[in-house]
Amino acid sequence: MRILSLPGNESFAERLAKILGARPLAAMFRRFPDQEAYVRIDDDCRGDDVVVVCTLDRPDDKFLQLAFTCRLLRDLGAASVTLVAPYLCYMRQDKVFQGGEGVTAQYFADLLGPLIDGLVTIDPHLHRIDDLGDFYGVRATTVHAAPAIADWVRARIDRPVFVGPDIESKQWVSDVASHMDAPYLALEKERHGDRNVEVSVPQLADHADRTPVIIDDIISTARTMIETVKHLNDLHTHPPVCIGVHAIFADDAFDALEQAGAAQIVSTNTISHTSNAIDVSELIADALRSA
Ligand code: R5P
Repeated sequence: MRILSLPGNESFAERLAKILGARPLAAMFRRFPDQEAYVRIDDDCRGDDVVVVCTLDRPDDKFLQLAFTCRLLRDLGAASVTLVAPYLCYMRQDKVFQGGEGVTAQYFADLLGPLIDGLVTIDPHLHRIDDLGDFYGVRATTVHAAPAIADWVRARIDRPVFVGPDIESKQWVSDVASHMDAPYLALEKERHGDRNVEVSVPQLADHADRTPVIIDDIISTARTMIETVKHLNDLHTHPPVCIGVHAIFADDAFDALEQAGAAQIVSTNTISHTSNAIDVSELIADALRSA
């Protein structure tokens, strides 16, 4: 097995290579003066199973480099190309919400799927998609961050109560809570626009002595987290801790969440960010070993 890192993924790729005892595969990336992508792999990878590491936040700037790399690996004779995308993008537009839109989750899968043989990712936003492998047309492994999140919480928060800010997040809060026998609840959310969400008021009367730990898969504008934190502050709970699996934090989202009153904001390292505190590389390495 060889590990190839796309730009920006070097430390995650190095960690994987170390855990797996796999040899790195060097590639050279640059932009032509007109910003077109250049990729060169001047290293023999014939017959190798190559793991390409590329997290896919802000994907539009990354996609062609990734696509060219995967295609080139095949042309150079790699036996297989497995993409490790700790964060998998374009999963939320999984239906037509308004007339005239497309299901871009499917469009993206149709572009990427034919270029790879396997896909490993962490907690993709599988809301209306049952089987990621069928959707991408490849062998796919979905890794859950819950055990790593539970370890982090167990070591730092005495009596947590887990709060999911919407029905979709029930799967994550219930999973983490089950690792430590703690209570959880999932709220209801209505989204009126990219930065305009309403979240129902949490019923926490039975858990007043516990620290609320809000968990969501993605923190993008952070409006979902902010609305939840505001409710908790109004209820005078213990200061809430916010945990996101995927730390997108668009624009000033991180500062806005801090200012809203989050006591602590932490994330896994699926996307490199100052809030990263929970390492998921071991979980991905386990998945690659058994893929
Ligand atoms: C949506 O269903 C996801 O699970 C997250 O709740 C959502 O992506 C968070 O977005 P934002 O941070 O922009 O509120």
